[in-house]
Amino acid sequence: MGNITFTMIKPCAVRNGHIGAILDHVSKAGFRIKAVKMMRMSKKEAEAFYAVHKERPFYGELTEFMSSGPIVAAVLEKDNAVLAYRETIGATNPANAAEGTVRKLYAESIQANAVHGSDSDENAAIEAAFFFSQKDIFSKEGEICV
Ligand code: CMP
Repeated sequence: MGNITFTMIKPCAVRNGHIGAILDHVSKAGFRIKAVKMMRMSKKEAEAFYAVHKERPFYGELTEFMSSGPIVAAVLEKDNAVLAYRETIGATNPANAAEGTVRKLYAESIQANAVHGSDSDENAAIEAAFFFSQKDIFSKEGEICV
């Protein structure tokens, strides 16, 4: 199991002022933030990011929504990160998300579901590389407190 996952705080949660609360929730759940940035994806970038869902009926709407405003992208570290993060954020559809999960607390709908989380170690690496170069991803050794 890998120790890296990738997340995005989606435009709805950014618009609703939940960036701080979500990053706090994620930190308190034991994830270390190795990289973070706020940016707005173009429609083309959103289409490329979600290319695996190209054939799905919701692809157009999803990519429209994901490029409708800024997102916060981050690389997170924890043992067994992909699975642990999926547990922390809850089910894709917030109607099915467990109490206390990020989506239960902050999601509006299956599309505007507050955050994205990688579904495999392989996709975590691909998705992290979509937003960050290796020099933007920090190891613990780069975070010296004096
Ligand atoms: P995310 O984790 O970003 O990965 C793919 C996204 O597609 C998912 O979260 C949802 O926001 C969205 N999605 C999945 N299923 C549906 C659906 N049935 N209708 C609309 N959006 C969906």
